[in-house]
Amino acid sequence: MTETSAPVVAVIVVAAGSGARLGHSEPKAFVHLQGRTLLEHALHGIFGMAEPAQVIVVVPEDRIGAANAIVRASSASPAARGSVTVVAGGSTRQQSVSRGLAVLGSQIEIVLVHDAARALTPSDLCDRVVTAVRATGDGVIPGLAVVDTIKRVDASAVILGTVDRAELSAVQTPQGFVRAILVAAHDTSVHEATDDAALVAATGHPVRVIEGSPLAFKITTPVDLERAESVLNPAPGNVVLPRIGTGLDVHAFSDSAELWLAGLHWPGERGLSGHSDGDVAVHAVCDALLGAAGLGDIGGIFGTSDARFAGAHGDVFLTETLRLVTEAGFAVSNVSLQIIGNRPRFAPRRAEAEALLGRLIHAPVNIAATTTDTLGFTGRGEGIAATATALLVPAARPAAQHPVLSLDV
Ligand code: CTP
Ligand code: MG
Repeated sequence: MTETSAPVVAVIVVAAGSGARLGHSEPKAFVHLQGRTLLEHALHGIFGMAEPAQVIVVVPEDRIGAANAIVRASSASPAARGSVTVVAGGSTRQQSVSRGLAVLGSQIEIVLVHDAARALTPSDLCDRVVTAVRATGDGVIPGLAVVDTIKRVDASAVILGTVDRAELSAVQTPQGFVRAILVAAHDTSVHEATDDAALVAATGHPVRVIEGSPLAFKITTPVDLERAESVLNPAPGNVVLPRIGTGLDVHAFSDSAELWLAGLHWPGERGLSGHSDGDVAVHAVCDALLGAAGLGDIGGIFGTSDARFAGAHGDVFLTETLRLVTEAGFAVSNVSLQIIGNRPRFAPRRAEAEALLGRLIHAPVNIAATTTDTLGFTGRGEGIAATATALLVPAARPAAQHPVLSLDV
């Protein structure tokens, strides 16, 4: 299959539950784990699948807007974003899956149903489910051997017997099926089930278990969330390396332009020449962020031939830069910016500029301003310069996916 052909695999991510047992005010899929929602973590695993898939995200009705924003921020590419649909769920998991099935693309042949609550599920587990469905035509679900001894008990917790655990499998998601089989199972189901395998098995169709993943555990209670935190945290003695970048920009004053500096409009001040609004401070920050992420520089991303950026202001550049940096797997830790020039007097609007830029890049920004004591081009009042330094940290995900420095401690 090529990147451009329509996917034949779909993944329905059910995220419409309230998470009563987790006990947060947010629905469970929108609870944060190391700076990202559980839904973002789950999508990260799905977007990493070897084969492109149609992704259907099922969320509470009042979260459709929030989910669309998450999808925009997490999709690996515009192509991937194009194949993501967000729909409202129902009052049970099964109803939520049915709502997802209703929007399957006509070309879809294999459907995986996945709980957003299994937020750290690795991409390769999804791949293995697809491969096994394709090879067997059966329903395929991941499962792990049960390690505890399991007892049957009566209503007063008195032991009735021991269950032979060799016969047990603790099953997970994603659960994969040939489309027509899953759709028929949902259409004919007479009672609610907590997973899709139960519905398909009830139609007499075989469902088999493949080896699951310890990382695909379901986040149900606060203790599970703590477990997920500790999975994402690097082990003591291992430090996930941050990344640093620097940026520099200079523009000459121009009598025909208005001044835009650090994202702010400065009425009455001489403007700066440039293809965009000439905001040297924002351009230096973009270069620092792009450099830290290894994404080149502002000229390479926002070409002067691109009409979208002619006259554009800082918010356009910073929003797109943040999107690229996030897509590359980083979060911004902080930015330090220095503006060099005789005018404007920056101090009175420093806090305003720091707040604006901080909002745009989701991180603290400190802005210093200086003159060069009449020396050089800035001292002669020919223009303004800016330098910036940015620190990025890998966005929360299993540490093994990032370069790690092992410290002997
Ligand atoms: N789910 C859903 N629609 C529902 C109920 C559950 O999409 N009406 C989803 C959940 O969002 C979750 C998955 O099904 O990703 C597994 O359900 P569970 O872990 O039980 O989540 P919740 O129902 O949200 O949690 P709780 O039962 O504690 O309220
Ligand atoms: Mg539930």
